[in-house]
Amino acid sequence: MRIAVFGAGYVGLVTGACFADLGHDVVVRDVAEGKIDALRDGRVPIHEPGLEELLERNGERLRFTASVEEALEDVDVVFVAVGTPPTPSGDADLTAVWTVVDELPDVDRRVVLAMKSTVPVGTGRTVRHRLDERGLENVGYVSNPEFTAEGTAIRDFLHPDRIVIGAFDSRDADVVEQLHAGIDAPVVRADVASAEMIKLAANAALVTRISFINEIANVCEATGADVLRVAEGIGLDRRIGPSFLRAGIGYGGSCFPKDSLALKQLAANSGYNFQLLNAVIEVNELQKRRVIGKLERRLETLRGKKIALLGLAFKPGTDDMREAPSLVLAGRLLAEGAEVSAWDPVADGSGRLDGKVEIAPSALDALDGADAAVVVTEWAEIRDLDWAAAGERMRRRFVVDGRNALDAEALRELGFEYEGIGRTSS
Ligand SMILES: NC(=O)c1ccc[n+]([C@@H]2O[C@H](COP(=O)([O-])OP(=O)(O)OC[C@H]3O[C@@H](n4cnc5c(N)ncnc54)[C@H](O)[C@@H]3O)[C@@H](O)[C@H]2O)c1
Repeated sequence: MRIAVFGAGYVGLVTGACFADLGHDVVVRDVAEGKIDALRDGRVPIHEPGLEELLERNGERLRFTASVEEALEDVDVVFVAVGTPPTPSGDADLTAVWTVVDELPDVDRRVVLAMKSTVPVGTGRTVRHRLDERGLENVGYVSNPEFTAEGTAIRDFLHPDRIVIGAFDSRDADVVEQLHAGIDAPVVRADVASAEMIKLAANAALVTRISFINEIANVCEATGADVLRVAEGIGLDRRIGPSFLRAGIGYGGSCFPKDSLALKQLAANSGYNFQLLNAVIEVNELQKRRVIGKLERRLETLRGKKIALLGLAFKPGTDDMREAPSLVLAGRLLAEGAEVSAWDPVADGSGRLDGKVEIAPSALDALDGADAAVVVTEWAEIRDLDWAAAGERMRRRFVVDGRNALDAEALRELGFEYEGIGRTSS
């Protein structure tokens, strides 16, 4: 089939590359001409493992354009993968989505508009009305939410746990299901509103687990238990399962914070107070700040102290710093009068940290003269760092391991003071 993907971001590029890999003809369209130029030159504007190779391998079935007309020529399915960032009120900003909908020309054959962007429940119904008002009855609408995670997006796309398709007309759902031929996964067919809710509810369930284990970790710290053993012990319960039980300094990224806030606001706008989700969000905010307390307890004051942040991306495997805990930590540390250095193997923090944080060329350089290191992102490069050499460079051998990623015993043997999350410290 011929597919157009609107949006050449984390979701759009992975969607385009994977559908091309499945044998479809794909045009990716973006309004950012710089991105399109880069892609045409074979440069990939984001860091996603395996993406560059996949785009290259399927080059003959993939084109990139900034032109709507070129993207829509003879197309069967148009995927919307544009950003839906939060507005100041916490609701999703659908400006880019409406631009795509309003740009669609009248067509004399069936074309399916498939929504991959995460949107509030009820968006599909509003899009349908808007298309009908313009007389675009030939344009079908399908909600096909995306569940890929940055860092593992290609594997997640080609081997998903499920494919969700919500449609007003089953013919359109059939087309989108056929597109996925070659992917072995259960297909959940639903009405449009339920498909939209599946995406928001899935993310709400995941953040709830994260805040749950983080609160367990905080109680472990207060009572002398070790959250790693606790997570292992509860994760083996088949009713609970082991995933998303890693205590840390909270979730970030371009999806979890905004989607949980959007669901909270969606509920509130409908007159319902989603108390559990409110608490989950608040726990996450507080969790990031607990690092400051851990530092202060040992260093007494942060004023004039040098703190090295190891990892800037919101998680390993990506360069994405949207809503990254590193940004909150850097802001809090600077506000306390600390000097902050940082290093990340991939993410470029220079634009986001306002020149107030020293971006070091290596982890050891970031640690030079530091009074403490904070592991913010559990990159393998940070876990496997030569910590003996790190100790030589630091003013004080003190690590706050915000992801429980390091070998606490080995560090203690090297003379480090070690603080994890939800574990006894020394
Ligand atoms: N990032 C993820 O891992 C992920 C996972 C699941 C769902 N989602 C959802 O997918 C959507 C896209 O997320 P993302 O992270 O890929 O965003 P992104 O910001 O990386 O990319 C969005 C792209 O859309 C482009 N764009 C804006 N208006 C456009 C238009 N009219 N036509 C064509 N392109 C346009 C932007 O220039 C940008 O390149 C969001 O709704 C997000 O919530 C993201």
